[in-house]
Amino acid sequence: MSRTCIHPSILNADFANLQRELGRITTADAVHVDVMDNHFVPNLTIGLPVVKSLRAATELPLDVHLMIEDPDTWAPQYAEMGCESVTFHAEAAKAPIRLARELRAQGARSAMALKPATPVEPYLDMLGELDMLLLMTVEPGFGGQSFLDLILPKIRRARAAIDDLGGEIALQVDGGISAETITRAAEAGADTFVAGSAVYSAADPEAAIAELRTLAG
Ligand code: DX5
Ligand code: ZN
Repeated sequence: MSRTCIHPSILNADFANLQRELGRITTADAVHVDVMDNHFVPNLTIGLPVVKSLRAATELPLDVHLMIEDPDTWAPQYAEMGCESVTFHAEAAKAPIRLARELRAQGARSAMALKPATPVEPYLDMLGELDMLLLMTVEPGFGGQSFLDLILPKIRRARAAIDDLGGEIALQVDGGISAETITRAAEAGADTFVAGSAVYSAADPEAAIAELRTLAG
């Protein structure tokens, strides 16, 4: 299994002070950036221009999570501007294999996300096209929701499939990850953890990152 990575989500940060908020998570492995278009999910956040400014404002890798309707058109542009990892949703992509290859061709890690009710099995044959698989542990759209324990068996099945393949595919979970839930997700086989409110509502975000890392390890 690959090493434990903690990716704080800036969805729960102060959007009027993003540079300062990035400075509070310097021990993170990457910054998780939630792009929402008010169509694929009910919420609306930020898009290309703001992510471009974030790219220039931090040395940390950007892990962009696209909750948008037309990733086939937009995702490659996030890779092109230098986002280290670009995640599109399987439910939204028209040609996921072509898109995953395009992201890698642009020099990014290709990643695909599944909503809680989307089964992983139809996608197992394309795992080799991915550098990361994201299993949502809440319905995408908002921070601060409760972790869905019913995803744990899907995490276990995905872990087994990734191990069978023997590759270096990260298995990410996103939604409701906290000191209370991270151990269950890690035991099921996740190795990359998005945490929004658990990091940004803590008085000391870097202490929260360290605690999550220890609990997951
Ligand atoms: C939800 C987003 C998450 C969100 C997680 O749709 O994809 O990244 O920021 O927030 P918490 O950790 O508070 O559930
Ligand atoms: Zn996310």
